[in-house]
Amino acid sequence: MSTVKTAVLVSGGGTNLQALIDAKAAGKLPHVEFVSVIASRPDAYALTRAEKAGIPTYVAQRKGTTQEAFEAEILAELQKKQVQLIILAGFMSILSEDFVKRYPRRILNVHPALLPAFGGKGYYGLHVHEAALARGVKVTGATVHYVNEIADGGEIILQKAVNVEPGDTPEILQRRVMEQAEWIILPQAAELAAQTILRV
Ligand code: GAR
Repeated sequence: MSTVKTAVLVSGGGTNLQALIDAKAAGKLPHVEFVSVIASRPDAYALTRAEKAGIPTYVAQRKGTTQEAFEAEILAELQKKQVQLIILAGFMSILSEDFVKRYPRRILNVHPALLPAFGGKGYYGLHVHEAALARGVKVTGATVHYVNEIADGGEIILQKAVNVEPGDTPEILQRRVMEQAEWIILPQAAELAAQTILRV
C-alpha cells in the first residue's frame, strides 16, 4: 500500500502527536507514514514521545532567530525527508505566506475551538479556552483545517463539538476538548488528507 510521507510540527507537550502515534499503532492510519517530528523548542516533550515511537526528530529553534531563517531550517528538513504532508499539532508559530504557498492543501492544523470562533492571531493554547469561557459559550470544540495564508482561515476538514460545563476552568475545558475532540478528529483528518493526496 502506498503511503504519504508526513512530518508533524510541534512546540509543546505533544498530546496530539501522541494521538497520531497511537492511531498509527492501532492501524487507523494506513496511508500515513511519519518520517519526521520537528519541534520549535528543544525542550518540547513531544520530542520524547517521537523518540519512544521511533520517529526521527529535528529541532528548528524559533527563539533567537528570524522567521525567515527558522522557516528555511524547517524547509530543509522537509525537503530532505521528501515530506508530502505536514501536520501542525500544537505548533505555536504562524508560518509565513511564502512558506504556506509551497504546500497548498498539504498542511493541516488542529485548533482547539469551532472555527471561525476564537481563531486567528493571539488565539492559541489556553488563551482559546479563556476566551470561550469569557464569552460564555455553552458549546465549543475543535477544528482540523488546511492551512492557508490566513491564520486559522483555511478550508475546514473536520470539526467536533464539546459541551462547556458549569465551573469549567480553562485547564479543565482544554482537557475535555482534547479528549473528546482533538485526539479523535486529528488522526481522522490526517488519514483523509493522505488519501486525498494519493488520489490526486
Ligand atoms: C492543543 O490544544 C492544540 O489544539 C493547540 O495547542 C494545544 C497543544 O497541545 N493548538 C493551538 O492553539 C494552535 N493555534 P499538545 O502539544 O498536547 O498537542
